[in-house]
Amino acid sequence: MAPTVPWQRLPLGTAPLPAYNPYMATDQAPTLAPLIDPFHRTISYLRMSVTDRCDFRCLYCMSEQMTFLPKSDLLTLEELDRMASTFIRLGIRKLRITGGEPLVRKGIMQFFNAMSRHLETGALEELTVTTNGSQLSRFARDLAAAGVKRINVSLDTLDEQKFKDVTRWGRLAQVLHGLDEAQAAGLRVKLNTVALKGFNEEELFQLIEFCEARGMDITFIEVMPMGDLGNEDRLDQYWPLSDLRKRLEEQYTLTDLSHRTGGPARYMRLNETGQQVGFITPLTHNFCESCNRVRVTCTGEIYTCLGQEGMSDLRAPLRASQDDAVLEEAIRAAIGLKPRGHDFDYSRGVADGQMTRHMSHTGG
Ligand code: GTP
Ligand code: 5AD
Ligand code: SF4
Repeated sequence: MAPTVPWQRLPLGTAPLPAYNPYMATDQAPTLAPLIDPFHRTISYLRMSVTDRCDFRCLYCMSEQMTFLPKSDLLTLEELDRMASTFIRLGIRKLRITGGEPLVRKGIMQFFNAMSRHLETGALEELTVTTNGSQLSRFARDLAAAGVKRINVSLDTLDEQKFKDVTRWGRLAQVLHGLDEAQAAGLRVKLNTVALKGFNEEELFQLIEFCEARGMDITFIEVMPMGDLGNEDRLDQYWPLSDLRKRLEEQYTLTDLSHRTGGPARYMRLNETGQQVGFITPLTHNFCESCNRVRVTCTGEIYTCLGQEGMSDLRAPLRASQDDAVLEEAIRAAIGLKPRGHDFDYSRGVADGQMTRHMSHTGG
């Protein structure tokens, strides 16, 4: 019989769990005790990376010569399904697929199509993706057909040369075409723009007007000290969003909005145009207190905080048994170790709390 730990389960009796069947296992609303961390935060948002590879090499995310994982280390699509489905059964309501660039993973649409069953049953509230946009022309319609309603596209500049500089390998035209296709497919698009001093400062209003004209939201992100920095220095790149806000106030009246999208962004409206602008402020305004998320990498590691080194392996428990109880216990144990938050801090003029791990390892 499957081992059961009484405090982990609602009173379901001690009936053995059925053998794993991906098309049955989580087609019911979650019936297990919710995932709660040591700081009483309920974990309802899973960010799942499906590949560490990317077709870009953004300066603040990867080094130019990245060594990628051997493909044999990756969870298979079936294992990704089982992993996500187990989390959903444990109360995950929002599933964001990340990378690297998630849409370069071979067969990824099979995975999205399979995940849509959880939307149909209502177990999952939102299935979504964070992408660099390079593959959207190919996949936007398929994503919409799988039940994705809203996507986040990373885009830091509208200048072709600067785009090439920051992504090293990217082509702006390809991403812009992808945005067209995404909107034509009915997907709601939000741009994620890392605020970079001396890089996109002068494009602030242009980026906002671009989104306004296209009916897209935009969120700015403070650059975090992640990755093997080498000669780069995040402090030199850091443009605090408190400054960015002041710049906006020179031209607009801002109203803080209370609505949330389940992630760390806080939103405001530009009264004159109605445009919504999001702010992700790990440095100037820590939001860890309300953290509701964990990350699983493409090799099955769980990182319970983006800004800490701590991780646990879920691949071995996943592979140890077809009975999901082993994996469930490993997930609960990992969440039981979730730290209070990150230690990123630039206030002393150095990048405190810096992580050698690249952002692409966990998908942000
Ligand atoms: P919405 O669903 O639109 O709210 O998206 P989201 O903000 O949850 O996801 P998105 O992928 O757009 O996240 C944008 C970026 O915010 C990530 O790539 C990270 O850089 C950052 N971010 C997300 N979660 C955390 C977090 O828990 N801590 C920190 N420090 N940064 C985070
Ligand atoms: N700091 C902040 N955001 C980052 N991203 C990548 N690296 C960093 C960093 N060092 C963002 C990307 C993308 C998301 C996956 O993470 O721009 O929106
Ligand atoms: Fe690729 Fe996104 Fe990292 Fe850029 S930020 S290198 S697009 S994973």
